[in-house]
Amino acid sequence: MAADAAHGKIEVGILGATGTVGQRFVRLLEDHPWFSLRWVAASDRSAGKRYAEAATWQLEGAPPASAADLRLDDCTPGRAPRLVFSSMSSDVAGEIERAFAAAGHVVVSNSSSYRMTPDVPLLVPEINPGHLGLLAAQRRERGWEGALVCNPNCAAVVLVMALAPLARFGLRRVVATTFQAVSGAGYPGVPSLDALGNVIPFIRGEEEKLEPETQKILGSLDGDRVRPFPVTVSAHCNRVPSLDGHLVTASIELEERPPLEAVRAALCSFRGLPQERRLPSAPARPIHLLDAPDRPQPRRDAGLENGMATAVGRVRECPVLGYKFVALSHNVLRGAAGAAVLNAELMMSEGLLD
Ligand SMILES: NC(=O)c1ccc[n+]([C@@H]2O[C@H](COP(=O)([O-])OP(=O)(O)OC[C@H]3O[C@@H](n4cnc5c(N)ncnc54)[C@H](OP(=O)(O)O)[C@@H]3O)[C@@H](O)[C@H]2O)c1
Repeated sequence: MAADAAHGKIEVGILGATGTVGQRFVRLLEDHPWFSLRWVAASDRSAGKRYAEAATWQLEGAPPASAADLRLDDCTPGRAPRLVFSSMSSDVAGEIERAFAAAGHVVVSNSSSYRMTPDVPLLVPEINPGHLGLLAAQRRERGWEGALVCNPNCAAVVLVMALAPLARFGLRRVVATTFQAVSGAGYPGVPSLDALGNVIPFIRGEEEKLEPETQKILGSLDGDRVRPFPVTVSAHCNRVPSLDGHLVTASIELEERPPLEAVRAALCSFRGLPQERRLPSAPARPIHLLDAPDRPQPRRDAGLENGMATAVGRVRECPVLGYKFVALSHNVLRGAAGAAVLNAELMMSEGLLD
């Protein structure tokens, strides 16, 4: 993989660099110790323009100097570095990502197109790093020189981070209600007259993703496939006028009946490979258990550990299913760009980017 000669870093590119998630990639890659941003691409509307001119910059300050003068390419394989992060609109991502992987690129994607494809890892490095084993089958069966790895839906990741430490108690059923920030819809996203002072009790395609993604992420690798974890998930997904951070309230049924203290201890002590290996984007504590009765809150807690930690609070008994809690993660960081960068760091630490 081409290295940035001056700094010994791996050169990377971004497909869909101008959007909400793309801008977070640009920011996260600005001073990344292992990766150096060299190439950006977006739609035909942006191709040929300077990054700073084409992107409607939504984050604080100005676009980083390392990206501002990059000239946007179109999303065709050939000129990009081998490792590309993808944050293209979901309606176009599928075909383009496949073309890049077939042409030898390692595509680390945010889009939903291939999350449930059997030979594509749906990766959360703290939970299922072993699912990278699917890449061998992907190469063998598709004849790809490159590879394709996905991160989960931005609401699914909130739920699965909180459920993973509890799976050992025999997780059976989950009823989850989401309160999803407007940034989850990209830019310009939800019209302000719909979003402000309002709750929209419907996000197209979202509820359908929560159950299968949870089952796949918690599932076990069985040869060339993932055997889904047998949990039933019923989701209600709502768009609310918070800016960043998807909040999820969940009631869960566990086969065992551990005391609340054991549930809290399992959440608190949860760690994974990214922490063991001290990957650059890994939070020191993937789950922060909050004690205050009115937390977590998106405005106050979505930014924990650079937006990479999940906050869990209000762990208590549920008279219907047994246990209930509130969880929150930053949808554009832990739920999108940060998750993809962590995935690439895990792949690097596994020697998969050599
Ligand atoms: N926002 C979140 O919290 C979040 C979380 C998880 C996953 N995701 C997923 O991440 C992806 C990006 O989401 P977003 O919120 O960043 O959306 P967005 O703000 O609408 O950005 C979309 C990006 O896709 C590019 N694009 C649009 N049409 C294209 C085409 N025909 N060919 C190539 N590029 C094209 C846009 O380029 P132009 O600027 O040139 O139009 C822009 O860079 C989506 O698949 C979404 O489902 C988003």
